[in-house]
This record gives sequence, structure tokens and C-alpha cells, in this order.
Amino acid sequence: MSDVEKFVRFYESDFGKKVLGRETDYLYNELRDRKKILDIGCGIGSFEERLAKLNIVGLDSSEEMLEKARKRSDKKFVLGNAENLDFSKGSFGGVFTVTTLEFLGSYKKAVDEVVRVLEPGGKFVAMILNPESEYFKAHAQKADSYFRRIKHTNLKEIESCISKFFATTGEYFLGIRGQDVFDTRDKNLAALYVVKGVKV
Ligand SMILES: C[S@@+](CC[C@H](N)C(=O)[O-])C[C@H]1O[C@@H](n2cnc3c(N)ncnc32)[C@H](O)[C@@H]1O
Repeated sequence: MSDVEKFVRFYESDFGKKVLGRETDYLYNELRDRKKILDIGCGIGSFEERLAKLNIVGLDSSEEMLEKARKRSDKKFVLGNAENLDFSKGSFGGVFTVTTLEFLGSYKKAVDEVVRVLEPGGKFVAMILNPESEYFKAHAQKADSYFRRIKHTNLKEIESCISKFFATTGEYFLGIRGQDVFDTRDKNLAALYVVKGVKV
């Protein structure tokens, strides 16, 4: 099954819809006051479809993902590389990444780029997979799991890189056990760790 098909199936499942619902609610609360927002690693455009009220540009390095995304919403989607963005300084009031930084060759280069394309006071929200969670561990055991391509698993290192440029807070988010999705701050149950903050 191609990556695109895997993502489509996931987000079409009841479980995927619950996950997406929680993630989009979180992002909406954090970014609703931002005039122009960039989603780096937008995949098949699920967030753009759900966050229809927000002015989001989706960026991904996979044309196949973008093709799917363009069918899901009329937002702007661009082909690009997180580590070398084709946007000028201060183009956005907000940037978010969902389970993307940890899959990049250099998340540090990507963070430098986020800093550059954000306006002063711009907000960054990074949702990062928590490798300590039950959910991650169970998935990563499967031979064909996308999670196996993860390159960076040290959450504190990623947070410390982001906190050089942003007044950050970090929190565990999105409890998952089996098919249940719930609120938690427990690091063993939270599938994600969120680092967020405004540019200093
Ligand atoms: C795990 S997926 C997450 C997709 C989406 N954010 C979601 O949560 O459904 C990671 C995404 O990052 C994209 N990606 C990988 N390397 C990239 C890069 N260097 N620049 C931009 N996007 C990249 C992949 O094509 C993929 O769509």
C-alpha cells in the first residue's frame, strides 16, 4: 500500500477521525488568531480540510500527497522542502507541523526556516510523535509502519532546539489506548508531545 493510501485509510477510519478531531481542535485553539498560517508536511491535507476557517498554506515534499490534498480542499498547496522554504522572511503569523519534524533529515534546518518565515511574535506549534507511548511502540513493531522511518526520537533535544528561538511550553497530548482516544498528560499514554511558543 502506498503512503498516500495509508494516510487516506487512517483518516477515513473511525479511529483516525477521532485523532484528527482532537489534533485539529488543539491547532484551532492555538492558531485561530493568526492571519496566515503554514502547515509544513501537510500530507494529504486533512488539517486544511478540517480547519476550513483558517487561512492555511499546506507544504509537502511529496507531489503524490499534494495531489490528494488538492482534491480535499481549495486551500493553497505547494511542493517544497521543510529544510529550505521558498517563502520570504516574515511571510506567516503561524506555522504548524504534525508528526513531520522527527522524519526530516535535519529538523534543525527546518526550525531555522520556521524562524525565518515567521513574522516577529509569530507562533509555532510542533506536534511530535512520542516514542515512549504505548501507541508508538505498538505501531513501530509492525514491519510496514511509517513510524519506522522516524529519524529523531529525542524529544528534549528537539524541544531545546525550538526553545532557542521561541518562548516555548511543552506538553504531552493525545492519549491513545487501543481504539480509545482521550485526554492525558501521561507520557506513557500520550501519542504526541507538543512544543509551542511565540518567536522571541
Ligand atoms: C508522517 S507524515 C505527516 C503528514 C500530516 N502532517 C499528518 O499528520 O497527517 C510526514 C509528512 O512530511 C512530508 N515530508 C517529509 N520530508 C519532507 C520535507 N523535507 N519537506 C516537506 N515535507 C516533507 C511527507 O511527505 C509526509 O507527508
